[in-house]
Amino acid sequence: MAVSPDRGGNIFENCISIMPYSLLSNSTDWKGKRMKLLEGKSVAMTGGGGGLGRCYGLALAKAGAAVAVADIKLDAAKATSDAIIKAGGRAIPVHTDVTKAAAFEQLLDRTEAEFGPLDVLLNIAGMFPRRALVDMPEEEWDAVITLNLKSVFLGARAAIRRMLPRKRGIVLSTASGTGIRGQPKGSAYSASKAGIIGFTRAVSLELKDTGVRINCFGPGATDTPLWRVGKSEEDVRRLLAAGFVYQPDDFSNVVVFMASDVSAPLNGEFISRDLHR
Ligand SMILES: NC(=O)c1ccc[n+]([C@@H]2O[C@H](COP(=O)([O-])OP(=O)(O)OC[C@H]3O[C@@H](n4cnc5c(N)ncnc54)[C@H](O)[C@@H]3O)[C@@H](O)[C@H]2O)c1
Repeated sequence: MAVSPDRGGNIFENCISIMPYSLLSNSTDWKGKRMKLLEGKSVAMTGGGGGLGRCYGLALAKAGAAVAVADIKLDAAKATSDAIIKAGGRAIPVHTDVTKAAAFEQLLDRTEAEFGPLDVLLNIAGMFPRRALVDMPEEEWDAVITLNLKSVFLGARAAIRRMLPRKRGIVLSTASGTGIRGQPKGSAYSASKAGIIGFTRAVSLELKDTGVRINCFGPGATDTPLWRVGKSEEDVRRLLAAGFVYQPDDFSNVVVFMASDVSAPLNGEFISRDLHR
């Protein structure tokens, strides 16, 4: 998809402009009845107030899902939820700190009370402080691993405990190609994302033949607040102009696909869009 350097202003304005909704938000069953790919699905999404979360939430809702938008910043979660409702979808904002097991239980309780039994948990919350290993305080390492990796364990455990008795459900987590190839000033981040990939593969083996699935994806370097950390305005302009960076909506269709039953053969996969491999 085209990456425009001119779209570097308010990154949230770059959502929902380029999705071929006719493909993913509307399709027909074998009798020709019109239906949406995620019609009636109950989804909880963490990091929903962020750059990717806002676009993915809108895309999921346009495909028919009802979305509980969780974020540690309630105002950001509310902005995403409001955008979904304005676009005609169903959403609620939920204040959630994904580093806490109890917060996940509250999020899933709230999701199920509003939208019915959980169909999809989408783990998006994350952080990427750029720092060389030799300068990294132990506290920062712990913070990155806790937010990026432990949260995926906490969320997956809480969701899968609910999904197994119902024999259906999907856990989808945001990893990164960085977890495979590494990145300078990204040792903790790369370790956390590699951890998500290994965690996903291991859990998928435990879920074999249960009807519950777990997968992860890497959207590639994407212009969001997280990607801009540690970059000057000049760096941002140069990288956008060079076409090295995606826009937040560019991976939305893949997320909709992976959150849907159409992706049924996939379990334990890491699907990545990465310019640098
Ligand atoms: N942007 C990229 O280039 C890129 C590439 C690959 C993977 N990713 C991954 O995508 C995910 C989203 O990244 P983004 O670029 O949208 O970042 P972002 O900074 O725009 O969004 C992250 C969101 O997570 C929320 N959050 C932080 N701590 C939280 C907590 N304890 N509990 C709940 N929410 C919390 C933040 O408030 C924010 O809204 C991350 O996991 C990131 O590692 C991003």
